[in-house]
Amino acid sequence: MKYHMPTAVIFGPGVIFELGGIVRDKLRSSRPLLVTDKGIIAAGIAKGVLSQLPAMPTFDDVEPNPKHGTVDRGGEVARHIKPDLVIGLGGGSVLDAAKAIALLATNPGGIEDYEGREKYRAAPLPVLAIPTTCGTGSEVTWVSIITHTGRQTKMSIKGPLMYPAAAVVDPDLLVTLPRPLIASTGLDALTHAIEAFTVKAASAITDALALDALRLIFYSLPLAYQDIKKNAEARVNLMLGSLMAGMAFVNSDVGAVHCLAESVGSLYDTPHGVANAAFLPQVMEFNLDAAEAKYARIARVAGIEAGGRREAALRLVARIREISRDLSIPLFRELDIPEGDFPVIAQKSFGNNSNRSNPREATAADYLDILCRASQI
Ligand SMILES: [Fe+2]
Repeated sequence: MKYHMPTAVIFGPGVIFELGGIVRDKLRSSRPLLVTDKGIIAAGIAKGVLSQLPAMPTFDDVEPNPKHGTVDRGGEVARHIKPDLVIGLGGGSVLDAAKAIALLATNPGGIEDYEGREKYRAAPLPVLAIPTTCGTGSEVTWVSIITHTGRQTKMSIKGPLMYPAAAVVDPDLLVTLPRPLIASTGLDALTHAIEAFTVKAASAITDALALDALRLIFYSLPLAYQDIKKNAEARVNLMLGSLMAGMAFVNSDVGAVHCLAESVGSLYDTPHGVANAAFLPQVMEFNLDAAEAKYARIARVAGIEAGGRREAALRLVARIREISRDLSIPLFRELDIPEGDFPVIAQKSFGNNSNRSNPREATAADYLDILCRASQI
């Protein structure tokens, strides 16, 4: 068994105010570049960061499901400015873009040239990741997912030198997170933990992280959705659950839910958490025979009392559907994805690298079946 996660994690309410010291003293940086998005700037979240690191250059063009052209432009900015650190402040899209821009700062060409594992020649710049949502896990992972708009595919760019050097994880940054984003990013974190726990690559260490992440997320997500401003405990537990789910899946894997969600995201720009939520119960039903015992363990963590393993697993799937409904996450059929595209989505999902990790072998025909079933609910 192996476990590797070299990122220094600084977690807790208010740790964002330690940022200046962390950048200067711990990371010994004097020329950081901030990568973020316009929503973060408009919400005023970047103010607290910029006040500690005055005159820091900023690249704020990152969009949801970050596109290769945007990352290439960010890489050009970094090559011109020559920073010694890239600070990513935002959700999963921003953190993934920050990692990719850090790679392009020290390597020639476009991000497309680095699709796959360890394709970089020089070590990327160090990255400091500051998540502002409760789902990505990207602050503790070695992968950057970038959409290639021409090929309509999500590229996975990864390598051991792409782990952020540090993650500053402050649950108080969630205070202004809009409810739809609490719901969708929370469902992403839940999916990370469930898939990390049930895929073939799971280990005792990732199981422990995933199970505790699940315990935290099941109890805190509905409370955070109700009133995240007033509930400091729910903010802490949800952010911690999201972080631990990331620490679990980075050394385990994700499975068929993410294969489908990434395919749909690359074709229609569907928010990642919404796409995960649309497929999670359906994939769990598909995996039931292969993952029944593990689903029953998750059911216990979720507080579900049931007689046998089968009953517990089925009641867990029903609970997941309930959570999505209570959090007003749209159903798959409400995403208006044309049925004629299902074969293409199925084929892309089958070709995803994480497909082989799924607890039950899934063919393109199986993915097509899951899509058809999801569209009927
Ligand atoms: Fe995810």
